[in-house]
Amino acid sequence: MPLQYRAPRGTADILPEEQPYWKHILGTAERLCQLFGYQAIETPIFEEASLFTRGVGETTDIVQKEMYAFRDRGGDELALRPEGTAGVCRAYLQNGMHNLPQPVRLYYSGPIFRYDRPQAGRYRQHTQFGVEAIGEADATVDAEIIELLWRLYEELNFSNLTLQLNSIGDANCRPVYLRVLRDYYGERLSQVCDECHGRFERNPLRLLDCKEERCQPIIAAAPPITDHLCQECADHFSRLRQYLEDIYIPYILNPCLVRGLDYYTRTVFEVTPPEEGAQGTIGGGGRYDGLIQELGGKPTPGIGFATGIERIVLNLKRQKVPVPEPSPLVIFIAYQTAAARFLAFQLASALRRADISALVAAGDRSLKAQMRQADALGARYAAIIGERELPQGTVVLRRLADGWQDTVQLGAVARHVQDPAPGFRPVP
Ligand code: HAM
Repeated sequence: MPLQYRAPRGTADILPEEQPYWKHILGTAERLCQLFGYQAIETPIFEEASLFTRGVGETTDIVQKEMYAFRDRGGDELALRPEGTAGVCRAYLQNGMHNLPQPVRLYYSGPIFRYDRPQAGRYRQHTQFGVEAIGEADATVDAEIIELLWRLYEELNFSNLTLQLNSIGDANCRPVYLRVLRDYYGERLSQVCDECHGRFERNPLRLLDCKEERCQPIIAAAPPITDHLCQECADHFSRLRQYLEDIYIPYILNPCLVRGLDYYTRTVFEVTPPEEGAQGTIGGGGRYDGLIQELGGKPTPGIGFATGIERIVLNLKRQKVPVPEPSPLVIFIAYQTAAARFLAFQLASALRRADISALVAAGDRSLKAQMRQADALGARYAAIIGERELPQGTVVLRRLADGWQDTVQLGAVARHVQDPAPGFRPVP
């Protein structure tokens, strides 16, 4: 029969067999955040739509083409968050976090929604882990944020990742550069793709991010933004590079790296695996010194990154990096008669109270079928309560890996599975 319901296009179930990846990634990220002095924050999954229109930028693809915006029953214009930074900045303002020691260091993880064209590593609902350091403009914070992202990938045992770095200037020098860029493109408009005509009008910096084949030679020869930074931005960028070199974080400069969100100023960075492709980027971020003011606060600098968990999982699998497996089920309790079922149920309960994972066979299956289930579940032991054991208050305890077994008192099962050495003899 055909399935009546499937998960919506571009969404995925994260099944139990995937969970070890998720647990490992998020556990590693949280541990690092603690080492770096970052604290957890959670913000709502939907916000006022204008938070993103103003924050991320009216002309960005994310807002124009990808945002899940809707009017709720009360008439409010809301949007499922298409990224995490704007919500965290809103929370910083709303909760008076400027009164705390600056910068305020925060991290978060949760679902993000973008009406994207689904493909491998690109979803309409994905999960980001992100951090934000708000309230300090010094380049040490830029280096700290990049170090944290890099350390995360290191701790996850990635190899062959590339950190790309650029500075896209500030309100001072960027307008000057944009004029230079428009002059350059103005003479070459007949050679660029249709999309780039639109970018030329609405958001010229994004010209450098075009993926069309025909635009590549023009991008390659475009005047680099790093040649047009004002003194303050150039100094900031050179200090950042020095800090990264001092802590041995390898990076490459990419003057065409501009990112897809409008709030960035100065530092921008992305981390990419060896495989090509737009959805190859596993993490990215940058400085957003104008964002908090744009959202109605006092001028407050900030910087952060986000990394997509699905893309990390995809790349860990591609690189065949193992992750820790969850602890297996310790004991499966099987029984031969209906009367033994009560005892089996009681034994499972007692073992779980002793912190030993235990399951009882359910239903009226044969002992053979119950043992097959114990194997399928990957249990380390099976306890079998047969007709003979029931009146004696014992169980047959079997170690499933090698078939060793022994008859033990009910009350001794816990001790045996915790310390299995004594008392076992091989099955004849
Ligand atoms: P972003 O580069 O748009 O940045 O997204 C961050 C990461 O989310 C990407 O590097 C990628 O791993 C993942 N990602 C993005 N879109 C998708 C998708 N459709 N499917 C699967 N994964 C995806 C931001 O969102 C900024 N808020 C980062 C930031 C924080 N900047 C400063 N602070």
